[in-house]
Amino acid sequence: MNFTIAIDGPAAAGKGTISKAVAKHFGFSHLDTGLLYRAVGAKTLSGVDATEAARSLQAEDLDAPDLRTPQVAQAASKVAVLADVRQALVDFQRAFARRAGGAVLDGRDIGTVICPEAETKLFVTASAEVRAERRYLELEANGLDISRSQVLEDVIERDKRDRERSEAPLRPAQDAVQIDTSVMSIEQAIAAALRAVDAKRKG
Ligand code: CDP
Repeated sequence: MNFTIAIDGPAAAGKGTISKAVAKHFGFSHLDTGLLYRAVGAKTLSGVDATEAARSLQAEDLDAPDLRTPQVAQAASKVAVLADVRQALVDFQRAFARRAGGAVLDGRDIGTVICPEAETKLFVTASAEVRAERRYLELEANGLDISRSQVLEDVIERDKRDRERSEAPLRPAQDAVQIDTSVMSIEQAIAAALRAVDAKRKG
């Protein structure tokens, strides 16, 4: 059975949490595509050329330490504007999307570019302030010494770069179900996502 769920949205919208829960619920595999760009971004911080890093990316690169830091997130969004970098990562993501047993992919361009034929597309959003607060709490819990205002700045700057780039800009697919989680708990956001997927599976 091939069934792909594409979950896109701006920075720190809760895509990861929702994707993991949805994948678990249906017994699907999950790919956090942001991690691919973060791994490439991290390599550029140590002087490797971005395209070279994307073309030679290995599974173990996704386990590198510190991929979740705002510095790496910024580096990721900078390499993500490059057509050659995006191109180098396409085949892996498409193969993952169509793997047997079902797949959930979260990112920025899954419903628009990587898998426009996905059976279900969700676009998860929340206000920049709410997203920054959630990300701040997450980073703080992981022991990072960072201020709320720095996190908000990172979120706003990346969103702008991700939306305005010419290659695969961040935007909802025409047929995406939009879920605004600004005033939802995690449980409510997951329930809304599961309802949207169920509606497509039954329809
Ligand atoms: O977790 P968060 O939403 O903050 O970011 P992420 O999903 O890990 O993505 C990090 C960066 O990678 C984004 O700001 C994008 O620039 C880029 N990215 C992308 O261009 N396309 C994707 N499919 C996934 C991430």
